[in-house]
Amino acid sequence: MGFFSLVTGRPGASGFGSASTAEQVTEGIDAKNLTAIVTGGASGIGLETAKILALRRAHVIIAARNIGAANKAKQIILEENEKARVDVLILDLCSVKSVRAFVDSFIALDLPLNLLINNAGVMFCPHRLSEDGIEMQFATNHLGHFLLTNLLLEKMKNTAKTTGIEGRIVNLSSIAHVHTYGNGIRFDRINERSGYSDKRAYGQSKLANILHANELSRRLQAEGVNITVNSVHPGIIMTPLMRHSAFLMSIFHSEKL
Ligand SMILES: NC(=O)c1ccc[n+]([C@@H]2O[C@H](COP(=O)([O-])OP(=O)(O)OC[C@H]3O[C@@H](n4cnc5c(N)ncnc54)[C@H](OP(=O)(O)O)[C@@H]3O)[C@@H](O)[C@H]2O)c1
Repeated sequence: MGFFSLVTGRPGASGFGSASTAEQVTEGIDAKNLTAIVTGGASGIGLETAKILALRRAHVIIAARNIGAANKAKQIILEENEKARVDVLILDLCSVKSVRAFVDSFIALDLPLNLLINNAGVMFCPHRLSEDGIEMQFATNHLGHFLLTNLLLEKMKNTAKTTGIEGRIVNLSSIAHVHTYGNGIRFDRINERSGYSDKRAYGQSKLANILHANELSRRLQAEGVNITVNSVHPGIIMTPLMRHSAFLMSIFHSEKL
């Protein structure tokens, strides 16, 4: 979508544009046979995604590290739609142990899996290492989702095969993927504090989201698997994601006044 269409809301080839609502885009869709996992589904874009999927009758699993916030999100969805099928499972993407435990819990539910929305993320945080010793933005935004996707792939392939319904994996990336370190992803210095830039580290993690989607898509197509993988920049939306940027917070707050 070009800048003009973005700011004016002019519809694109699909008939929808930046002014279209999730209700309009999904109108007439019956997702009652679908099960979806939405990471970071307790706030921001993830919560809106969980809401609309539930409204269209999908069974939604909110995967979140903050169980209190996730249960509140579930409550919000149920208040708007008492028939919604929503479950909450704990997932901390910056911990390999937690990702594995989440997948074990999900598999134990014996549900199909049609949609995996890799949405959770952190942005512009100061340099910090995860419990596995990985730089936090790369660990959360990319590696956690990479591992999660790999561990759920067999389940998704089986679901697509047995139901005949195309599976979907969506990585929430960002236009910020263009703003990385000089050589793109610093594979040999991912965790280094020296030269760390909170903006470029975010950019490289979002570039990794895109590369992950592109390569996985290529491999699944080559295998003849009925699963589509996409990455998406969702636009610029005021959410708690901005919390580490005083600059962005000040812009958005002054806009509101
Ligand atoms: N908003 C924008 O303008 C924008 C633009 C481009 C791309 N995006 C992308 O869109 C996605 C959603 O962002 P948003 O704007 O909706 O932000 P948000 O409201 O802050 O949502 C991010 C979610 O990720 C969760 N999360 C963070 N670290 C996690 C971890 N280690 N394990 C599990 N969950 C974790 C957060 O949970 P906690 O509350 O526990 O932290 C939160 O629920 C992100 O991937 C972001 O990069 C957003």
